[in-house]
Amino acid sequence: MKQTILITGGVGYIGSHACLEFLAAGFRLVVLDNLCNSSLESLRRVKELSGHNIPFVEADIRDRAALDRLFAEYAIDAVIHFAGLKAVGESVEKPLRYYDNNIAGSITLFEAMQAAGVKTVVFSSSATVYGDPASVPIREDFPVGATTNPYGRSKLIIEQVLGDLAASDPEWRIALLRYFNPVGAHKSGRIGEDPRGTPNNLMPYISQVAVGRREYLNVWGNDYPTPDGTGVRDYIHVVDLALGHVKAVEKLREGPGVRIWNLGTGRGYSVVEMARAFEQASGRPVPYKFGPRRAGDIAQCWADPSLAEHELGWKASRGLEEMCEDTWRWQSMNPNGFDS
Ligand code: NAD
Ligand code: WQD
Repeated sequence: MKQTILITGGVGYIGSHACLEFLAAGFRLVVLDNLCNSSLESLRRVKELSGHNIPFVEADIRDRAALDRLFAEYAIDAVIHFAGLKAVGESVEKPLRYYDNNIAGSITLFEAMQAAGVKTVVFSSSATVYGDPASVPIREDFPVGATTNPYGRSKLIIEQVLGDLAASDPEWRIALLRYFNPVGAHKSGRIGEDPRGTPNNLMPYISQVAVGRREYLNVWGNDYPTPDGTGVRDYIHVVDLALGHVKAVEKLREGPGVRIWNLGTGRGYSVVEMARAFEQASGRPVPYKFGPRRAGDIAQCWADPSLAEHELGWKASRGLEEMCEDTWRWQSMNPNGFDS
């Protein structure tokens, strides 16, 4: 029997890639999004690429009545919860907006799920919950809590809310997926990351330099205790990440409880290595200038992904070259994102 999955935030970057992988794995989908950080063109292309019609509900996760209508209309088996605001800097300026959207929104969603008897959820958490780790690679049992911004705290609080919910009701099946740094795009070049305004994240910034939309990359800090002095992160291809969600939902069928998995590759690359790899993949120069450290940044962060490998049978298989090539294909085919 095919399962029907509700994907909140399914029009966004990771959600759109997840839609394709869930459809390929034989799931039926319903997508809910308020389009505050995405374009419906993305969903149109997902439908085109997959050949599936995907019911879409334009609504906010804080709108309980809309959620109740959705759960009454569709027999949902599980929810993949991507919907949320994710800009770290903006969360420092507008903490109430982040707490309301991410935390209050998630609570409203979980209440509607509980009322509808839908008690399986996969939540988009983040490596940001680990703060500045005492060592790398980071395992799931490392301490959490030393988050440095409201965005990170919103993720941590939602994780805790879900933990309390599972403790109160043993029927809940919950996966907390802690993503490292998602990059890349679908092989078709039809969907990818389309940040509004100036990108905060490294990969979209680099690709906009390569395509000529920006003059050079600012490298935030070259005096970190890392091999070349620039920050090191665990970049993971968004399609590998999406596949991790399919594995997580399948694993949750085995039984109730809260499960936590890191989704990363287990290897880190520096900012300068990323710029060089992108030059190679695109054949375009990526000039950069060293600037001061960015507030709140840590020196290095990469996952120990072995728990997901053992328990889910999941492992990231797409390397740095493929991450850069796929980002470049998306960027060069859509120089202005979905507005091209
Ligand atoms: P995104 O902004 O592209 O996608 C999020 C989607 O959620 C957007 O389509 C947006 O319109 C929608 N949305 C936001 N608030 C909503 C609300 N109140 N009601 C309904 N829809 C709403 O971001 P993404 O990169 O695809 O991230 C997806 C999830 O993964 C987010 O929860 C994010 O915090 C988390 N995450 C992202 C990263 C990353 O670097 N991209 C890393 C770790 C975790
Ligand atoms: C990567 C590296 C920067 C831009 C953030 C969030 C995290 C998660 C993923 C959602 C760092 C350097 C960047 C630039 C640069 N999001 N950099 N010049 O900071 O690891 O993680 O996104 O959950 O919560 O904090 O990712 O891509 O912003 O930065 O030098 O223009 O690139 O200093 O070393 P980060 P990032």
